[in-house]
Amino acid sequence: MKYTQPMLKAGSLQDQVIVVTGGGSGLGKAMTTYFLELGAKVAITSRNMEKLQKTADELRTKTGGEVLCVACDVRDYDQVEAMLQQVLDTWGKVDSLLNNAAGNFISPTERLSANAFDVIIDIVLKGSKNCTLAFGKHWIKTKQEKATVLNIVTTYAYTGSAYVVPSATAKAGVLAMTRSLAVEWAKYGIRFNAIAPGPFPTKGAWDRLLPGDLRDKLDPAKKVPVGRVGVHQELANLAAYLMSDFSAYINGEVITIDGGEWLKGAGEMNGLESIPQEMWDRLEAMIRSKKSN
Ligand code: HXC
Ligand code: NAP
Repeated sequence: MKYTQPMLKAGSLQDQVIVVTGGGSGLGKAMTTYFLELGAKVAITSRNMEKLQKTADELRTKTGGEVLCVACDVRDYDQVEAMLQQVLDTWGKVDSLLNNAAGNFISPTERLSANAFDVIIDIVLKGSKNCTLAFGKHWIKTKQEKATVLNIVTTYAYTGSAYVVPSATAKAGVLAMTRSLAVEWAKYGIRFNAIAPGPFPTKGAWDRLLPGDLRDKLDPAKKVPVGRVGVHQELANLAAYLMSDFSAYINGEVITIDGGEWLKGAGEMNGLESIPQEMWDRLEAMIRSKKSN
């Protein structure tokens, strides 16, 4: 068995109704695929209906699962409420929400207009808030026994990061919301968790974070202690577990899946990785010689 393979047993998400925002592309599509393979019914939402339809056709053929496409800009609360209603009209219930939709691009912060900063905050933080609030109100009002919210953040939600400041600011807010509501809404049977992925190649992210030859200059795999970028299936495995009842006692957690990337940047002496093995005898001798000082 390898990390590139599906992990959970067949039927682990049988008949669970899941909404995946930004489910038409990238990681949202990868997670949706695995949810369908595990028996879930999945509504994929984003601004681009054509893209959603294309993905849905592909995934229906591949998995035989039920997919609903709903055009919904998460920045607009009315559209989110209408999306929720469409899912309820179709399947009669909703069990889980995956806040995956995001916007991002690299830029020196002083180059950003006020609107450029807002657009990222609005998609990531306000969008996650809009979906969480609409779905939460529904679950509480209908006294649904249990529900799950899974939020996709980033490792810089806790470290911060230069050149993606609006995204870092927004993702930190989503993480705070995850932990806060994990406590406040546990009494309603709603569980909240987050995943902080390291680099997982997608067109959406790579076009905006590593444009042109930047992807060769800043090869993300080089920053990862395990020496590679993430594979979509391993993220999907984690997401499916957190969506499933197998993780019923995990609440308010953020799980990092980055091969140790962010810690490599953080540890004070991690730069010593570049010291060749043969140099260590000489360094050790130098250090030992200072013992009596
Ligand atoms: C400076 C920019 C800009 C850029 C846009 N703007 N691109 N400013 N540098 N590269 C400015 C515009 O001029 C405008 O400001 C404002 O931002 C809004 O731009 P619009 O194009 O009108 O916005 P919109 O059409 O809503 O598109 C949103 C978007 C776009 C975020 C700009 O990139 C998008 O649709 N993204 C969705 C998908 C995405 O980003 N995926 C990547 C997620 S990756 P003015 O003042 O002119 O009106 C991710 C990974 C994290 O999150 C971690 C990786 C390890
Ligand atoms: P992606 O393919 O660009 O996914 C972003 C999705 O969000 C798109 O499907 C987009 O669809 C949707 N979206 C954007 N604005 C929206 C809006 N206003 N309303 C509704 N949907 C909207 O990029 P990705 O890499 O898969 O990213 C998915 C998630 O993983 C994001 O939360 C991202 O921050 C996170 N992440 C990714 C990485 C990585 O290495 N790839 C690392 C850490 C975290 P439309 O354009 O059709 O609306």
